[in-house]
Amino acid sequence: MIHQFKIKIVLALILVSSAMQAQHSLPVYLDDNQLIEARVEDALSQMTLEEKVAMVHAQSKFSSAGVRRLGIPENWMTDGPHGIRAEVLWDEWDQAGWTNDSCMAFPALTCLAATWNPEMAALYGKSIGEEARYRNKNVLLGPGVNIYRTPLNGRNFEYMGEDPFLASCMVVPYIQGVQKNGVAACVKHYALNNQEVDRNFVDVHVDDRTLYEIYLPAFKAAVTEGNAWAIMGAYNRFDGQWACQNERLLKTILRDEWKFDGVVVSDWGGVNDTKEAIYNGLDMEFGTWTDGLTSGVSNAYDNYYLADPFLKLLRSGAVKEEEVDKKVRNILRLVFRTTMNRSRPFGSFSTPEHSEAGRRIAEEGMVLLKNDRQVLPINLIAAKKIAVIGENAIKMMTIGGGSSSLKARYEQSPLDGIKQRIGSQAEIVYARGYVGEVSAKQDGLASGQDLSDDRTPAALTAEAVQVAKSADYVIFIGGLNKHEGQDCEGADRASLGLPYRQDQLIQALAKANKNLVVILISGNAVAMPWVKEVPAILEAWYSGSEAGNALARVLMGDVNPSGKLPFTFPVQLMDVGAHSVGDYPETATKDETYKEGLFVGYRWADQQKIQPLFPFGHGLSYTTFAYGKATTDKKTLSGTDVIKISVPVKNTGKRAGAEIVQVYVSDLEASLPRPVKELKGFQKVWLNPGEEKTVTITLDKNALSFFDDKRHEWVVEPGQFEALIGSSSANIQGKVTFEWK
Ligand code: GLC
Repeated sequence: MIHQFKIKIVLALILVSSAMQAQHSLPVYLDDNQLIEARVEDALSQMTLEEKVAMVHAQSKFSSAGVRRLGIPENWMTDGPHGIRAEVLWDEWDQAGWTNDSCMAFPALTCLAATWNPEMAALYGKSIGEEARYRNKNVLLGPGVNIYRTPLNGRNFEYMGEDPFLASCMVVPYIQGVQKNGVAACVKHYALNNQEVDRNFVDVHVDDRTLYEIYLPAFKAAVTEGNAWAIMGAYNRFDGQWACQNERLLKTILRDEWKFDGVVVSDWGGVNDTKEAIYNGLDMEFGTWTDGLTSGVSNAYDNYYLADPFLKLLRSGAVKEEEVDKKVRNILRLVFRTTMNRSRPFGSFSTPEHSEAGRRIAEEGMVLLKNDRQVLPINLIAAKKIAVIGENAIKMMTIGGGSSSLKARYEQSPLDGIKQRIGSQAEIVYARGYVGEVSAKQDGLASGQDLSDDRTPAALTAEAVQVAKSADYVIFIGGLNKHEGQDCEGADRASLGLPYRQDQLIQALAKANKNLVVILISGNAVAMPWVKEVPAILEAWYSGSEAGNALARVLMGDVNPSGKLPFTFPVQLMDVGAHSVGDYPETATKDETYKEGLFVGYRWADQQKIQPLFPFGHGLSYTTFAYGKATTDKKTLSGTDVIKISVPVKNTGKRAGAEIVQVYVSDLEASLPRPVKELKGFQKVWLNPGEEKTVTITLDKNALSFFDDKRHEWVVEPGQFEALIGSSSANIQGKVTFEWK
């Protein structure tokens, strides 16, 4: 009530001041937020009950009602985190068949995270926000920041890895970039949606320390630092309540603790109860009774939980009007921040600038995992014949994968990118090697590729080996794809291994040619039984429209790879906490307790003293770097002190490159169990050959704190700490100790 009273005062001031301005020049300045709040209250005060209820639920697949009578526009949502989804029919998942909605497909968010470069996240957000704006959408359903808990999760490719600090640092600039376009970022899927198996029913249980230290931080950063204007509830349950109507998540944490003033949107079909949706903090219901997500009556939007059932309760007085007013205020605030923000830019769509942005992010995100004998970059002077082998060299990857599927204006395949880059400098011979999926289609959109090939695996292997034997280099391009059971929404992978007998093929190629380079196109870790037989391995991710171009430039050395892994590559599934103790995928009662607790990813490997295949934060370069002695500006700190960790880094190789210096904090005297070390700072530094720079990373008390679930607050305990400086989580280059008093 106070809030409304204040706003009424403000409104009165506006009226008075405008009258006064007629006589005197006594302006009353209201800041942008106050103006928006005044407009919100003004609009709300003129809306009917029916208009309010119409606003809180979908009217079509991706839109909700405005108030035409008052000139308040509809809200239009669009997937997804990697590009702007093609227009669909009003009430269908199928394409609307427009001819002007072919977008730029940006790299998957695992690739963005692998850049470890917040500037790339800002460029990404700006670019995709321009595309959403141009397509006249005011809410982008992305980015996703669910933590990488198991390498089997079908949607990990849409997220930013296993570490909450890295995900937090990368999600904030993305959101800010999107919202500068007057488009709301809708960070998702809040929260604990870390698998696709039974995503609509699994009931996740996790202790508060793990919740606050691992699974919430990236969402908190999105809200409190990124100022996200929207957030999407997840499908799963958390402690017995669906996330889209979970009082603890949506009211206690999101509103009370984080002071979120944006809109809570359900996932499509994520609402399951009217009363809980009314009272537990949901603002907009989408996708219910939507074919494909939940069964039920035809798509009569009046049947939605927050439609007629809600209106009936309001009309009867069983529910007070203030309940719908709370929701409508948040939605009107969204409208005035976006569609009715008269100074927002016009956007742009599938432009050369967006192509360049996509290519730069892809190039910076690719991770050179291994490079024995410096097989890479390819020496085009020596190479007369290059064999390119594997289905992922030719397969389109922008279609499929679920809601992040795109109708890209173009997608350059790795093979085409390599051919275009090499031209006549060498002969390129392609062999299929294996047959995985012969076509890709989703929501009525097809890749148009028919990769059918009825040869037997033996014949395919024989051809590939034959081609490999006579080549100077063999580039095998395989990995996963966007089909169900691979990197795709709605299901998880069945195993850690590569599908389609790729392991056997890779081993045969390794015998046929010592200059074998394995390129993985994937969004998840995979097992590599052949890792010792292959001299060079590159993780190229799903890199979008510019995939072929970016990969070719990295392989030929036009670009020096500088990406680092945003998640651990385990040797085997049992090396992962979720699989060895953690209840994944769920119990018979659909319950799943994250028994591994805080110990996710490298935190688990450290605690269990497990050697990963490739560790979190790992990534090589075509040059080499040497770290000098790490120093600090103080040995003890307390209160609001910060500590500066400095370390000289020198490029000791022959070509320019970038190194990502990582700082992990180890609490040597914690009263509660803590991971051996945790990422709390990083910086990417570009160096020319022979150049040395001192990298300084500042840590404050937050970097030393842990969440004390008994006191329900972040605490830092007096005692000794170590800052470990690493070129990866497993390759520590130096350490310093200091004391918190
Ligand atoms: C999907 C996804 C969500 C997406 C939404 C709309 O089921 O979980 O990420 O934005 O529905 O397509």
